[in-house]
Amino acid sequence: MEQSGIVKILAISGSLRSASSNGALVRAAAELAPDGVDVRVYTALADLPHFNPDLDGDVPPVSVTQLRAELAASDAVLISSPEYAHGVPGALKNALDWVVGSGELVGKPVALINASPRATHAQAALSETLRVMSASLVTDASIAVPLTGRSLDARGIVADSDLSIALRSALVALAGAAASADPSVQTRSPGARD
Ligand SMILES: Cc1cc2nc3c(=O)[nH]c(=O)nc-3n(C[C@H](O)[C@H](O)[C@H](O)COP(=O)(O)O)c2cc1C
Repeated sequence: MEQSGIVKILAISGSLRSASSNGALVRAAAELAPDGVDVRVYTALADLPHFNPDLDGDVPPVSVTQLRAELAASDAVLISSPEYAHGVPGALKNALDWVVGSGELVGKPVALINASPRATHAQAALSETLRVMSASLVTDASIAVPLTGRSLDARGIVADSDLSIALRSALVALAGAAASADPSVQTRSPGARD
């Protein structure tokens, strides 16, 4: 965490679709970040090569180095992912595979946002993968934000009071978990107003 006490959250959508509801959700999270919290949206999921340990030598692919750097610079991670065929989208699982060995998620507070209440298999699989990677799942921050069938973009999510309150509460809980994990630098409660 920065000396300033700002909690940095990296938000990752598991969907590559340009009109993705999960993409809209992470962009809305960036707009809804409470005081003391900075949410940065990861935008390079599609740039990662297929995970191959042979590529992970002294000089890993640039996109992999950037992913690792963005995760390392974050105090917490927010993931919002669709479910495909009862599983985690390959692009997202691929990104996670790239950091199993390098360890940027070890001990990192992670929230899983579920935009589709039907999608229980992907959530369960993601939870298990993150657990075995020693990430710290923050249950208070892992919420359902039902968007299916609503065609909302980020602006629409921010404008919806129920959705924006739920998302902001999740961010406060996630930032609180990050601050507890590193209390030495935190100077004020996330979400506290001046
Ligand atoms: C190939 C494919 C497989 C899908 N499989 C499932 C599934 O197993 N369970 C489910 O709940 N939704 C499934 N869906 C629906 C998507 O999860 C849903 O449309 C989601 O909102 C897409 O996320 P996005 O808007 O962020 O791209 C599937 C969609 C596609 C295209």
